[in-house]
Amino acid sequence: MSGAVLVTGGAGFIGQHLVRALLAQGARVTVLDNLSTGRRAALPDDPNLRVVQGCVTQPPDLGQPELIFNLACPASPVHYQADPIGTWRAAALGTHAMLELARETGARLVQASTSEVYGDPEVSPQAEGYHGHVNPTGPRACYDEGKRAAEALIADYRRVHGLDTRVARIFNTYGPGMAPDDGRVVANFITQALRGEAMTVYGDGRQTRSFCHVRDLVRGLLALGEGEDLGGEIVNLGNPAEITMRALAERISEALGVALKLDLRPAAPDDPRQRRPDITRAKALLGWTPEVALEEGLAATIAHFRAVLAAG
Ligand SMILES: NC(=O)c1ccc[n+]([C@@H]2O[C@H](COP(=O)([O-])OP(=O)(O)OC[C@H]3O[C@@H](n4cnc5c(N)ncnc54)[C@H](O)[C@@H]3O)[C@@H](O)[C@H]2O)c1
Repeated sequence: MSGAVLVTGGAGFIGQHLVRALLAQGARVTVLDNLSTGRRAALPDDPNLRVVQGCVTQPPDLGQPELIFNLACPASPVHYQADPIGTWRAAALGTHAMLELARETGARLVQASTSEVYGDPEVSPQAEGYHGHVNPTGPRACYDEGKRAAEALIADYRRVHGLDTRVARIFNTYGPGMAPDDGRVVANFITQALRGEAMTVYGDGRQTRSFCHVRDLVRGLLALGEGEDLGGEIVNLGNPAEITMRALAERISEALGVALKLDLRPAAPDDPRQRRPDITRAKALLGWTPEVALEEGLAATIAHFRAVLAAG
């Protein structure tokens, strides 16, 4: 990819890895980020990178991108529930603004959607044809329904205006670059264990997630952005290896060589019981399959958090 690429939310956890990969491919990258959860320091100083601070719902002049990766939105429940109205606006109205930009410039748009569009799923694994089981008014709705509204808008912009759009339904992603205050389970467990604290488990700990290393995820996003005949496609990107939260806590304790200490709290409302992607479509369309095993990915993530906590 060598042209002009816009990455909204590019200073966040996934964005920083995507931006580095794009720069390595020779792209000229513009990042639009309000730096609410992202950090400028997460991105390199590079003559081919321009970082614009601003809100995705009211974008300033962003030039003529050929490709837009739309990632701008708080993604951790701690962050997205802190400002639920702002979250819905970023997810839905931010996507609307990026669709308008794509319409004006002829850019291709790749949307960072989420497995949360499946809600608390009644089927497992979740394939793209599943319409989901979402509480439309619960505390997670700002995010889940904001992302669903974004997908609806994308489908309509494609039908009405013929835009080249692609949607990645991203499942839980982890890896180096996560912030210690990220609030998502891998970051929580590792930072708590490194500080000698008990790991907070909500509910009985038997709920499952499937964790995809950010390196694998970025490869999938690039493949989705690059492919010539992928307009209109919706693709799950995630690692199908499913694990319970209790087992994850055990794996992290083992990797750190510390005794398992759990702090059991009541289940969070609408917390999905299970989460596992069907990646048949990603394999067929993108030739994509995750490569980083959880053990390897956790070791790299632990090393990252050790360094961050040591730096204070
Ligand atoms: N990490 C995951 O497990 C995961 C899973 C599913 C979907 N996603 C999606 O991927 C994208 C990136 O997630 P992440 O994990 O990197 O989260 P993150 O919070 O680290 O990054 C989000 C970025 O968007 C920026 N941002 C937030 N609101 C904005 C606004 N109104 N205008 C401009 N910038 C704004 C933040 O400052 C941050 O840099 C999100 O859209 C998220 O919904 C992530």
